[in-house]
Amino acid sequence: MIKPHGAETLTPLYVSDDAERAELTKEAEQLPSVLLSSGAAASAVMLASGYFTPLTGYMNISAATSVASDMKLPNGLFWPVPVMNIVPSEQLTDAVKNSDRISLRDPNVEGNPPLAILKVSAIETLSTEQKQLLIEKTFGTTDPEHPGVPAYADVGDNVLSGPIDVLNYSYFREDFPDTFRTAVEIRKDIEARGWDTVVAFQTRNPMHRAHEELCKIAQREVNADGILIHMLLGKLKPGDIPGAVRDASIRAMVQHYFPENTVSITGYGFDMLYAGPREALLHAVFRQNCGASHFIVGRDHAGAGDYYGAFEAQEIFDTIPEDALEIGIFRGDFTVWCKKCNDIVMMRDCPHGGDDYFNVSGTKQREILAAGEPLPPEIARPEVAEILMEYYQSEADA
Ligand code: ADX
Repeated sequence: MIKPHGAETLTPLYVSDDAERAELTKEAEQLPSVLLSSGAAASAVMLASGYFTPLTGYMNISAATSVASDMKLPNGLFWPVPVMNIVPSEQLTDAVKNSDRISLRDPNVEGNPPLAILKVSAIETLSTEQKQLLIEKTFGTTDPEHPGVPAYADVGDNVLSGPIDVLNYSYFREDFPDTFRTAVEIRKDIEARGWDTVVAFQTRNPMHRAHEELCKIAQREVNADGILIHMLLGKLKPGDIPGAVRDASIRAMVQHYFPENTVSITGYGFDMLYAGPREALLHAVFRQNCGASHFIVGRDHAGAGDYYGAFEAQEIFDTIPEDALEIGIFRGDFTVWCKKCNDIVMMRDCPHGGDDYFNVSGTKQREILAAGEPLPPEIARPEVAEILMEYYQSEADA
């Protein structure tokens, strides 16, 4: 199986020994604490799960700047997105400032229980210029209207860095027991299935017809033993479809339209950044950590609005050193409904064009649903449409 990123084996930061975890959880309840931002909490879950191998915790300003500017950790290893714990000044109590171990509380679970313990290496303050640089390099913009920028811009300026021990998987295990999986679990599952070549698919949407076809074409072209559907289960921008509904519709699609035992349906606990190209690189890193040999990047991958060009998230892979990643990238062209073919096609494989095409996208799917109109078969499978229409109806009635 493909090796994890920059390591021989995964380095999950979850404390797996029960007695040790119970002991640390008890300690965490007594330690000075800070309330994490949702993004930092999600990063702790990714670190806990082995997805962010070989990182050992949150980056300091110098490491984060090196990652943002040059996509390199201080030791030279490729890493595309800063992983930081930034808190507002009111969180920096004297007790926090004077402790070398602090508890990190979870903003997404009732009562804000401890999620992790940070062994504090440094407490630093970001200058306005440093913060602008981190945001600009990560998102390609500092526009506060960008759906991912406020999660960085509005969380304060105080950077708490150092190694962490993670005590639980936040709300993900409980809310998504059948779908949330760690990178460690996914590697084991791939091994148990006897898969060698595995193509991973990122999604934050219920899968429409273009998503389905993209997976099938990629599987065929790389001759994969299986497809790893790996959906984001964390926070999304308003209007995106919640995890549970997405999960149900993806399961319906796989059950009815994929051969048995060719798809593994899983999810990971991270908030969507909407960082387009940089997020695509991060996606590739953690799919390599899952044991996937290939990763699908289609049009406007991890994008939002018009912030990125349709294929910028593919082109960025041409700019990184050849040995930065081992995982192979499957680049998908626009996948659309073709009236002449009477089928979903990838544009590069179809001789038609222009008016023959009907664009299939998550945005279009959401617009039709929000208008209370039925989803046409060109966009969604009927079993999927039924689940989505029911959800939108229940929202409209609420
Ligand atoms: S994402 O934010 O998670 O990337 P989404 O769930 O819509 O959004 O996309 C999942 C993957 O499918 C991405 O690789 C994206 O580029 C690709 N994709 C979505 N729709 C299309 C389409 N119509 N044609 C080609 N690729 C697509």
